[in-house]
Amino acid sequence: MNDALIAPSILSADFARLGEEVDNVLAAGADMVHFDVMDNHYVPNLTIGPMVCEALRKHGVTAPIDVHLMVKPVDDLIRMFIDAGADYITFHPEASDHIDRSLQLIRDAGLKAGLVFNPATPLHYMDYVQDKLDMILLMSVNPGFGGQSFIPGTLDKLREARRKIDASGRNIRLEVDGGVKADNIGEIAAAGADTFVAGSAIFKQDDYRQVIDEMRKRIAQ
Ligand code: DX5
Ligand code: ZN
Repeated sequence: MNDALIAPSILSADFARLGEEVDNVLAAGADMVHFDVMDNHYVPNLTIGPMVCEALRKHGVTAPIDVHLMVKPVDDLIRMFIDAGADYITFHPEASDHIDRSLQLIRDAGLKAGLVFNPATPLHYMDYVQDKLDMILLMSVNPGFGGQSFIPGTLDKLREARRKIDASGRNIRLEVDGGVKADNIGEIAAAGADTFVAGSAIFKQDDYRQVIDEMRKRIAQ
């Protein structure tokens, strides 16, 4: 299995001081930046777009940026995020008319591509595109807002996704997003996740390093 990566979601950061927040969380030991893009159409909320991603790069952020698209359609924004300096781009299969084509668009640009599964979205969307996947992201809340509670049924789904990834023989990251905290990250890791998004659990604490260290300790247990 891959090394564990902790990806703070900047959705819960102080947007008025975004550059500083990202610098601080990376200095506190985060591995990459989870960047939530919402369009008030696919999900009932509106956040940030490619200009903000580009601004973080200009600010000097060199860590991987993990762009989670909660938008419909996806292809135009995929192109814009490629130009804006993203490293990973994931999208929800229901939001693309041509899933294979959207994945290919990302990979042709040399970025890492992934599909995101809502709590009720079946995993079989991955079956015929495994060779184009670098990541699978399981939502453990319904997308649109930070600070929601982890849906426990995600643990079984993680185990199923882990089996499918292992059976594929490919190096595909298994990311989980929503309600991840130091208290539950151990069982989430045990269910097979290797990439952990956490928004409110990190940014709502004063000491980012302390939370991230605690999360790593629980993952390793
Ligand atoms: C929800 C977003 C998440 C969110 C997670 O739609 O995709 O990345 O920020 O926030 P927490 O960790 O607070 O549940
Ligand atoms: Zn997200």
